[in-house]
Amino acid sequence: YPFWAQQNYASPREATGKIVCANCHLAKKATRVEVPQAIFPDTVFKAVVEIPYDASVQQVAGDGSRTGLNVGAVVMLPDGFTLAPQDRLSEELKEETAGIYYTQYSDDQPNILLVGPISGDEHQEIVFPILSPDPATDSSIHFGKYQLHVGGNRGRGQVYPTGEKSNNGVFNAPVTGTVSAITAGDNGASLVEITAADGTTATETVPAGPTILAAVGDAVVAGSPITNDPNVGGFGQIDAEVVLQNPVRIYGLLAFFAAIALAQILLVLKKRQVEKVQAAEGLI
Ligand code: HEM
Repeated sequence: YPFWAQQNYASPREATGKIVCANCHLAKKATRVEVPQAIFPDTVFKAVVEIPYDASVQQVAGDGSRTGLNVGAVVMLPDGFTLAPQDRLSEELKEETAGIYYTQYSDDQPNILLVGPISGDEHQEIVFPILSPDPATDSSIHFGKYQLHVGGNRGRGQVYPTGEKSNNGVFNAPVTGTVSAITAGDNGASLVEITAADGTTATETVPAGPTILAAVGDAVVAGSPITNDPNVGGFGQIDAEVVLQNPVRIYGLLAFFAAIALAQILLVLKKRQVEKVQAAEGLI
């Protein structure tokens, strides 16, 4: 869950660029983001995070039953960018963000936003309303091109913050040997007992969820999978760029274009005038 990232990591992005959700959500799935190419200061815009998956598939719940997937996302904005306040949202944005609860990663990181878990079937697209900063009122902000880092996840993770495995992953043989017994444990779990060559036994508890592939009598190697991988979800991350654009530059560019267009027209008119004079003087 996004709050496990908050609780365990000061920043959701490691020095390598990896977003920490990937430490527990081990499968990789696509995540996309749409942002405008450029944005003016003190302006509300949206970042649309897409977390696509096949809504007809189900995953294993904590108790081993089947259930739909939930989604969550983290958006790391450039410094100074924040969640747009409710009173600055357009009607359209209010509709698109209705019912979504956004949290900031920590008190001193208002530029990092979290959403989730929320129902995936209704939110394969999550809209983040964002307010750009204004260099005129904040001297630490400058016009220029900035990076955003986005992570999106669908489905349950494979590792709990304690380091324990969830039931939404592969279980492996603890030792090399032969599967000597598979018995029922508590809460629908199965105990897979493996007898090593020296006669010692090791037992792996497989909770309800994954399907056990190993059968009694099978030879297994330490670390080899004894169940299928029930996970149908996954995490993905992507970077995007946005230009914090100075409107004066755009006005300047437009004025320059206008001047060029006018100069071209005047040159044509001048040429026509010269041609008329030449015609009158019988030179042509
Ligand atoms: C569950 C997102 C970080 C471990 C979930 C779910 C979402 C999610 C949406 C619910 C999935 C569902 O019910 O279908 C995220 C995001 C993260 C993040 C966006 C980063 C910002 C982490 C971290 C850990 C973790 C750091 C491990 C320390 C898990 C586990 C579950 C889970 C084990 C399943 C819980 C259960 O149902 O028993 N996460 N997560 N997640 N997450 Fe994360």
